[in-house]
Amino acid sequence: MHTIANPQIQHTLNSLHREASGQGFTILKGLSKGIFRKLRPEDMKDAYIAITRDQGEFLFDLLVQNQCQHIVEFGTSFGISTLYLGAAAAVNNGRVITTELLPDKCQVARENFEEAGLSDIIELREGDAMETLQNVASGIDFLLMDGWNDLYLPLLKLLEPKLAPGALIYTDNAAFASARPFLDYIKSNPKKYQTERIKDSKGGSELSRFLG
Ligand SMILES: C[S@@+](CC[C@H](N)C(=O)[O-])C[C@H]1O[C@@H](n2cnc3c(N)ncnc32)[C@H](O)[C@@H]1O
Repeated sequence: MHTIANPQIQHTLNSLHREASGQGFTILKGLSKGIFRKLRPEDMKDAYIAITRDQGEFLFDLLVQNQCQHIVEFGTSFGISTLYLGAAAAVNNGRVITTELLPDKCQVARENFEEAGLSDIIELREGDAMETLQNVASGIDFLLMDGWNDLYLPLLKLLEPKLAPGALIYTDNAAFASARPFLDYIKSNPKKYQTERIKDSKGGSELSRFLG
């Protein structure tokens, strides 16, 4: 198992995970806005809603093992997951493109990347992923889906022509009903995708491989 050896990255991650773990009320407050209407990104503007440390460590190991270099992420928030991807990119001599809709989250995420010493490796694109990821170069070998789930399928269709054969796709919160169209598409194309459910403390993620 590969682990992050860089103390500067670990230090930043430790303080962000600490802050994220104390956000129970912030998350409930945000989620309460989605009771009578669809939840919007602005409802969670103060919330990390981040991957767990276990997920981050799993992803770091996965990316180092597979020597991923062209890494793309949908859903930066304050940058916890991006730091794990960036740490792996630093080992693999690769780069990360990540995207976040909310400008205030982008600003804080940029500060976090700077603090971790990963600003040169991580490119943060501010705006709607369906726009900001339009012109990503071909050869994506890792894709993290962790934004609003109803965009997973349109985003996959946007990026599919740019995926390298063998590319890995990790989908957080795969058990949510809103991720269903995305998963149905992946599962109904067994010649294009192999896929498996990964157990985690949030109900499960999906790890898929694009076969080309
Ligand atoms: C679950 S959070 C991401 C958490 C992050 N990956 C982590 O683990 O630290 C999802 C993020 O996606 C952002 N988002 C939602 N819709 C988006 C869109 N259309 N384009 C870009 N970002 C979007 C939200 O503002 C939110 O910050």
